[in-house]
Amino acid sequence: METITAIKSRRSHRKFSNQKIETGVIEKIVEAARFAPSWKNTQTVRYTVIENRALLDEISEHCVMGFAFNAKTISRCASLVVISSVGKISGYEKNGEFSTNLGLHWQSFDAGIAAQTFCLAAHSLGVASVILGIFDESRIKSVCKLPENQDVMALIAIGYPIEAEKEAPKRLEVNEILHMID
Ligand SMILES: Cc1cc2nc3c(=O)[nH]c(=O)nc-3n(C[C@H](O)[C@H](O)[C@H](O)COP(=O)(O)O)c2cc1C
Repeated sequence: METITAIKSRRSHRKFSNQKIETGVIEKIVEAARFAPSWKNTQTVRYTVIENRALLDEISEHCVMGFAFNAKTISRCASLVVISSVGKISGYEKNGEFSTNLGLHWQSFDAGIAAQTFCLAAHSLGVASVILGIFDESRIKSVCKLPENQDVMALIAIGYPIEAEKEAPKRLEVNEILHMID
């Protein structure tokens, strides 16, 4: 799929078909997502994919801070991807101090780029996705048994779409967001 077309036609999907996503397809998506840029190429982002229905139900019921919208999305998805990041690397100097006065910002920045790269790669392979930001970080970390040095940055629900094409929610116009300085 052509890049601009992929960027513009990707949508957040919250309903999915019952079809499981083949492991090979998930591997292809991560194979592409690993080319996302990162702070000094530190590549701190990790992808944990949950397919187990009992675990998905547990996350849906207990790990989304009671946000029913996300609970429903997780109960419908084929797999849930936990985007985590090895902490204290991105945005840090070797001596353990922050490199800039933006502190922890760069760890999230890397994870955001990785998440969008993942979603675009998924989209180009026919897999629908939605990034979920409302979740209980410590509970997700605990139920997924993530290593102590990783922070949960986002969840991505994925599955095969049941809506062929979705209209984009309204976007601001270019002249509202572009500021040129001569
Ligand atoms: C950081 C971030 C957090 C988000 N959190 C949620 C969420 O918790 N639940 C949800 O349904 N959608 C969530 N979304 C999806 C947005 O609502 C969606 O991207 C936006 O409405 C634009 O729609 P589009 O992705 O189809 O273009 C999130 C998106 C981002 C980037």
